[in-house]
Amino acid sequence: MLSQVLRSKVAVGQSRYLSTAAVNRSKVAVLGAAGGIGQPLSLLLKHSPLITDLSLFDVSPMTPGVAVDLSHMETRCRVKGFGGPDKLKEALQGMELVIIPAGVPRKPGMSRDDLFNVNASIVRDLAKACAEVCPKAIIGIISNPVNSTVPIAAEILKKAGVFDPRKLFGVTTLDIVRANTFIAELKGLDPSNVNCPVIGAHAGITIIPLISQCKPKVEFTEAQLKPLTARIQEAGTEVVKAKAGAGSATLSMAYAGARFALAVLRGMKGEQGVVECAYVKSDVTEVPYFSTPIVLGPNGVEKNLGLGKLSIYEEGLVKAAIPELKKNIQKGEKFANQ
Ligand code: 2OP
Repeated sequence: MLSQVLRSKVAVGQSRYLSTAAVNRSKVAVLGAAGGIGQPLSLLLKHSPLITDLSLFDVSPMTPGVAVDLSHMETRCRVKGFGGPDKLKEALQGMELVIIPAGVPRKPGMSRDDLFNVNASIVRDLAKACAEVCPKAIIGIISNPVNSTVPIAAEILKKAGVFDPRKLFGVTTLDIVRANTFIAELKGLDPSNVNCPVIGAHAGITIIPLISQCKPKVEFTEAQLKPLTARIQEAGTEVVKAKAGAGSATLSMAYAGARFALAVLRGMKGEQGVVECAYVKSDVTEVPYFSTPIVLGPNGVEKNLGLGKLSIYEEGLVKAAIPELKKNIQKGEKFANQ
């Protein structure tokens, strides 16, 4: 009875990322699965009818326990846990989609870039293993600083000769989720009916909400637009401060990561018209990686929908973001090639 109630609530409230239109089903790995994002993300993925096999990897020895715990849910997806660095390659065997939330989170006063020294080598090593074991898998990176970790992974995949720009994504979905929520709050709308593209990347001023392209159409004065944009750009910091030293967003990030992963899977299975904003290799602007709305298809990026029509205010945001993003990208590329 309880499980039925839970199932129907999840189905109604979260239909955006829990598609029941399961056709074919897939093998998905979560790297960093025992962490603050990894556990709730794995929970949401275990709930999806789109996934046949969920492979949970973490350096933590409790990872097999997380898998056993999830395996008791009455959904068809099989779950296996792999704890410890020596289990990484086994965990990646046969994987078609790899989602990476591994790494350390921010503490108050830190920027995402302050995580670079620790997380850069974690992502480098995970990307190396993917290149070797599942070179054709689509990879979604959540580990911060995403603006730099995606270029790091790209360089590693290039060195291994397996880089396919259609298959590497930085997950920026939480920025879209936040924009939808904050706009809905201000306009008295149902957030699940709001769709605001957020482009650029995933840190501070590189997060660029395109409120002029929001559906349904919403109007704000400039005096309202500036604090709304700033709140979306600094929403991660809002959570870091509220958690007062205990980390950054985990639950909303898991929701966003699941929404992204399931959209990728729907595209992989041939569903038409699946669109998510994501940080990808791009020639839309002068920087080589940029987030824009992407049509997802069987091989990942099917079509980059570009910037669309920007307001003058949004053009200014893009201009301000480019130099910062360029630095973030160069830092990642330099690290991977040193
Ligand atoms: C955030 O935006 C953790 O980067 C993540 O909260």
